[in-house]
Amino acid sequence: SRTAALRGRFVTFKGNPFTMPPEEALHVEEDGLILIENGKISLCGAYDALRTQVPDGMQVTHYPNSLISAGFIDTHVHYPQLPVIASWGEQLLEWLQQYVFPTEAKFSSPEVAQTVARAFLQELLRNGTTTAAVYCTVHPESVTAFFQESEKLGTRMIAGKVLMDRNAPDNLRDTARQGFDESQKLIEAWHGKGRQLYAITPRFAITSTPEQLECAGALFRSRDDLFMQTHLAENEDEIAFVKTLFPDRTSYLDVYDKAGLAGPRAIFGHAIHMHEHDFQHCHDTRCTLAHCPTSNLFLGSGAFRLFDALDPRRPVHVGLGTDIGAGTSFSLLSTMGEAYKVSLMAGKQRLHAIQAFWLATAGAAQSLHLERKIGTITPGMEADLCVLDPAATPLLALRSGECTSIADLLFVLMTLGDDRCVKATWVDGRPVHIRQDTAS
Ligand code: GUN
Ligand code: FE
Repeated sequence: SRTAALRGRFVTFKGNPFTMPPEEALHVEEDGLILIENGKISLCGAYDALRTQVPDGMQVTHYPNSLISAGFIDTHVHYPQLPVIASWGEQLLEWLQQYVFPTEAKFSSPEVAQTVARAFLQELLRNGTTTAAVYCTVHPESVTAFFQESEKLGTRMIAGKVLMDRNAPDNLRDTARQGFDESQKLIEAWHGKGRQLYAITPRFAITSTPEQLECAGALFRSRDDLFMQTHLAENEDEIAFVKTLFPDRTSYLDVYDKAGLAGPRAIFGHAIHMHEHDFQHCHDTRCTLAHCPTSNLFLGSGAFRLFDALDPRRPVHVGLGTDIGAGTSFSLLSTMGEAYKVSLMAGKQRLHAIQAFWLATAGAAQSLHLERKIGTITPGMEADLCVLDPAATPLLALRSGECTSIADLLFVLMTLGDDRCVKATWVDGRPVHIRQDTAS
């Protein structure tokens, strides 16, 4: 059933903690009730005030000593790279050649795609992630398999077929025409089907000809609610190569912009080596940047300048991305923890715990223009929730027991927490993951 009631402490956002005092942006309901009807939150607030609204006979799922949050949102991740995670020794371009391309080639098989898609979605749910912007492979079958598995779970996923028509192995290349046609068919089949959404997915400027980027732009403009995802300014060697491939473009971002790929619902992964005019242009065109701290550390790519991106004079939308398989954790908690460390490396401002949780939930939803559907615990929103256990391990129990404020507790969770802290994950009003073995 997609109709249910939850009781427990919940946290949600009533504002943007980057533009107001973080504590004022957060709402904490110490003993809360969340009522769900047909997969949507119908009512939420204090348990004592709302308990009479629980329909007769409905069982209330009680989560004492927990923290209920909107489900986490991962704005950049590659499902076919699940088997590539923790591959040793290379930076971006060599890592793609040595590990990623041979693995992605296997996804011509629908069976491989289905098996990995299933494992990937289970891993997301184990980590409290309920929506993600996902790269498939060049094979249309990989997209079909992914959306089929997502549909079974009822998760709201954004995904698309990778476009690559040059600088990639023979068995991983399409052509501009073929990529256009295949994407168009997939859009017709899946975009807006149930909770599934399509993202046009040119891998990056190195692996697409100008013709292919033009085709991607035409697709992106063909409807006003499609997504677009690609990689931007991740690595120095990559940027130098892009310069030789597109000598007439004024910057890496300009390559995409001239093809019509900048705009609302365009998600650029990494965006590490950005100039001020790039940030300004992202602001003007309302693009989104996916901050992938564990990946940027793992591949030695550099430090994303979060507070420059969010400069209140021209703020750019930002979400967090795990970027599996270059990223090293499926956990948005771990990703928040690494984003905190990177914020200290990259500048003077440090990421506040409440800001980090906003980036992983309400902020990500805003950046994807999905804030009316997901990202907060508010009436009318789709019931995607994660239930966190701040005492999931002996160390967490000890440390969270010392916390005197919600901000402290959130900081402990993002610094020490991971999938072990996810007690349950609800999707579309149903519990889809329940943690079995609790450590304490
Ligand atoms: N740039 C182009 N493709 C990829 C990829 O698969 N992962 C990362 N991290 N960067 C990329
Ligand atoms: Fe990536």
